[in-house]
Amino acid sequence: MKKIPLIIDTDPGIDDAVALAFAFHHPAIDLKLISTVAGNVNVDKTTDNALRLVEYFDVEVPVAKGCSEPLIKELEDCSEIHGESGMDGYDFGPITRKPLDVHAVEALRQTILASPDPVTLMPIAALTNIALLFKIYPETKANIKEIVLMGGSLARGNTTTAAEFNIFTDPEAAAIVFKAGLPLTMIGLDVTSKAVLTTTEIEKIKTMNQTGAMFASLFGHYRGGSMKTGLKMHDVCALAALVEPAIFSMQSTYVEVQTGDTAANGATVADLKMKYHTEANADVALEVDVERFRKWFLEMLALTK
Ligand code: RIB
Ligand code: CA
Repeated sequence: MKKIPLIIDTDPGIDDAVALAFAFHHPAIDLKLISTVAGNVNVDKTTDNALRLVEYFDVEVPVAKGCSEPLIKELEDCSEIHGESGMDGYDFGPITRKPLDVHAVEALRQTILASPDPVTLMPIAALTNIALLFKIYPETKANIKEIVLMGGSLARGNTTTAAEFNIFTDPEAAAIVFKAGLPLTMIGLDVTSKAVLTTTEIEKIKTMNQTGAMFASLFGHYRGGSMKTGLKMHDVCALAALVEPAIFSMQSTYVEVQTGDTAANGATVADLKMKYHTEANADVALEVDVERFRKWFLEMLALTK
């Protein structure tokens, strides 16, 4: 079976680390590039964290450093959730791997145009790199199969009442990406917040293998939820949606990204009844089968070291 040529655009980030770890090991995935962006923490740290992960798992996946700030807004990071380093809680030791010597947008262009098969983009962070790619190199769209992203929300946000962090960080970039005309799957916060690991699962992963122990150590510092209510595995839901779509129920609709200096800035408003639009621009996740997600999570973890 042909593997899916995949690029993950990311801001590791403890939940990003889980998505990357599983992408490294999934038999159907050919991870061709990791592009980093500022978000959870600054882009120097997100890039270092991506390098730590490729080194920890000893995989030959290139890492390219991307945008250090959103297109328009100031960066407001999320270090209170992931720790100052962006991946507090585990000592990965010194970094010996180096990022590519080109900017992530250039690396995205080169990787996409060089792929013999159309590439799937998986943004699990602010969409700054992806928006710039489409603006500077629109010709790359011809070799992009689809975008599968974690971001937005059909309900409340987590950064403001209205906005989820990845979209809030760069609403203008998100508006560009949602209007790019490419097939787009949005796994939003309302769904990913239900994809939680409880102490039951965390006790299992802690002793399953080396990666499980590392995850458990990171999770001790992760503030995306709590041990009491469950830890929210936001970003790995995008990978699950790509390789195990039956875990989610989806609806085709039109998603408007709100921009501008109002309390709605960064909101993703889905016209679910299509009262204002005649054509959809996204498939949005409506629900997640949590028990299936947890089973899949443990199956993925078993593929790692
Ligand atoms: O809102 C959740 C998203 O914001 C996740 O991608 C998490 O890593 C943070 O970037
Ligand atoms: Ca992220």
